[in-house]
Amino acid sequence: MIFTILTLFPSIFDSPLGESLIKKARDKGLLEFDIVNIRDFAHDIHRTCDDAPFGGGAGMVMKAEPIRDAMEHVDKGRGRPRYVLLTPLGRRFDQELASRFSRIDHLALVCGRYEGVDERILGLVDEEVSIGDYVLSGGEAAALVVIDAVARLVPGVLGNEASPVDESFREGLLEYPQYTRPREFLGMEVPEVLLSGNHEEIRRWRRKESIRRTILRRPDLMERFQPAKEDSLLIRELMEELE
Ligand code: 6GU
Repeated sequence: MIFTILTLFPSIFDSPLGESLIKKARDKGLLEFDIVNIRDFAHDIHRTCDDAPFGGGAGMVMKAEPIRDAMEHVDKGRGRPRYVLLTPLGRRFDQELASRFSRIDHLALVCGRYEGVDERILGLVDEEVSIGDYVLSGGEAAALVVIDAVARLVPGVLGNEASPVDESFREGLLEYPQYTRPREFLGMEVPEVLLSGNHEEIRRWRRKESIRRTILRRPDLMERFQPAKEDSLLIRELMEELE
């Protein structure tokens, strides 16, 4: 999978894309990153990429032409990717969107800066995405969030060729509790069932704890959750325990 990133701050991406999981996936040839500096496509000798808003008011607006020219450069190089503009105006990024993006061969992330981008850029991109209801000073941090969530869904990136089906969040549930050595820490014991070696019981316990956490911490997720056959019994057990 190819990620092209269009940004005014290319060096922001050096370390996050050069470490850990993503570095390994790049070395294996599973992921490729093309960082395009929008400033290289500015039209004047000062390489201006922002300007005052028509109509007045505070702040600066990212100019349309350098972004458009950077996009045309990308199109000529590798063919037109799917263009996603990172903006607080966009659709909220979630696991479902991450999953859809992971099936795209070439995704281009356009990072907005300043108080916004010229409205006419919105018509040139395929979609707009926000990572949550708070204000970032630019789309770069949001692009890194999207890349992280998408990259780990690309087959082979996590090591196992199979997709990470065991991850509860894909079903809209929170992860179950995890423990490693030692068996006792500050007086707290690891749940006995996890030491039992009974894989069926362990699977059932984990499923139940995933549902318990989701009920207690994220009732909003629970409303959309579609229980499998065995879940109805687990939910009934939990309801009695939680009464
Ligand atoms: Cl994608 N961009 C900016 N600037 N702020 C955000 C965001 C994106 N998502 C949430 N806040």
